[in-house]
Amino acid sequence: MSVQQWVTSLQGLDSLRPRAVPAPTPGPGEVLVEIHAISLNYRDVEVTKGEYKHHNTAEQDTTVVPCSDMCGVVKQVAPGVERWQVGDRVVSTFAPDHLTGQVTEKELAGSLGLPQDGVLTTHRVFPEYGLVKAPSHMSDEQAATLTIASVTAWMAINGMRPLGQSGGKGEYVLLQGTGGVAIAGLQLAKASGATVIITSSSDAKLDQAKRLGADFTINYRTTPNWEEEVMKFTGNHGADIILETGGAQTLRKSFDCIAFGGLIDCIGYVTGKVDADDDRLNVNVLTLRRTVTLKGIINGPTDRFEEMLRFYGAHQIHPVVNRVFAFTKVKEAFRFLESGSHFGKVVIKVK
Ligand SMILES: NC(=O)c1ccc[n+]([C@@H]2O[C@H](COP(=O)([O-])OP(=O)(O)OC[C@H]3O[C@@H](n4cnc5c(N)ncnc54)[C@H](OP(=O)(O)O)[C@@H]3O)[C@@H](O)[C@H]2O)c1
Repeated sequence: MSVQQWVTSLQGLDSLRPRAVPAPTPGPGEVLVEIHAISLNYRDVEVTKGEYKHHNTAEQDTTVVPCSDMCGVVKQVAPGVERWQVGDRVVSTFAPDHLTGQVTEKELAGSLGLPQDGVLTTHRVFPEYGLVKAPSHMSDEQAATLTIASVTAWMAINGMRPLGQSGGKGEYVLLQGTGGVAIAGLQLAKASGATVIITSSSDAKLDQAKRLGADFTINYRTTPNWEEEVMKFTGNHGADIILETGGAQTLRKSFDCIAFGGLIDCIGYVTGKVDADDDRLNVNVLTLRRTVTLKGIINGPTDRFEEMLRFYGAHQIHPVVNRVFAFTKVKEAFRFLESGSHFGKVVIKVK
């Protein structure tokens, strides 16, 4: 049997090319998975363009199978595997060695889709601990969206609380844009009992967000001072938790609408932490000024993933799959994600 897969030399989207390789054989403690669906992340576009460099985990002159998020079915189980049986439906984890607690550089070096080969392939071998059970109430396409976007959103909302004590009730949660992380955050925050504020460049997307339960929506194009609207909506309280996916252009505004003692989760790429030649306060001072906790997030460990899966199951939440592309249409899928016209997640259907 041969395996069909896509690889990239990190030279841009046109460097994505299909190839066939011999089927891998699982070694002790490993399983072979037939991949059914893959979801795309902003990271996968960056990887393919050679722009994913901020973790310094890989040489940039390499060829890699991109993508990290998949749902599939176990096809072969090697000796020593206790957790899985042939036929089990499974979801990948982003950094398989990151099982609990704070991620380490070593664990990050095991990340799928750079530096390790990822999941844009019909079959892949995984260590048995590098998989979690796919929720039975989700389709393959839905379950394939959980690995990065959902775990990151879950950690942003709950990662500062002890494992098993998820919260959100009565809190104001602010989401920026309507991409994968923000929409997973919207679903998780609403199901937790939070009041949700979301921004977008598109009124149509804001209407979609309202239908998913968003309590207050702001178009950041027509209302560039959206932070003032957040303060008005919250009665001058501010947002208790902000999923900072915007980065350099939004962080300063987030500081202006965070609650006292609030949590800004730096998820997107915050560049230029020191302000350019002007007299504005830098991030350190802004953080101190309102006693804000500023915490970077790099996805989350398996135990929190599984905690999240129990929550998805209990609340019967179905991830939002905006568009599904055929496995032969990978480039179109990447271009669609890059265009930013999606709502929620973009998935590639393999089987
Ligand atoms: N640290 C981590 O573990 C981690 C995990 C996942 C993602 N990330 C990072 O988080 C960011 C978002 O990831 P994603 O997968 O959700 O991306 P995505 O699905 O590609 O979504 C991007 C969305 O951002 C919104 N956006 C663009 N400019 C904006 C602005 N000025 N203000 C507010 N929103 C804006 C747009 O929403 P509208 O079209 O509605 O305007 C766009 O659709 C990326 O930088 C990604 O690399 C980090």
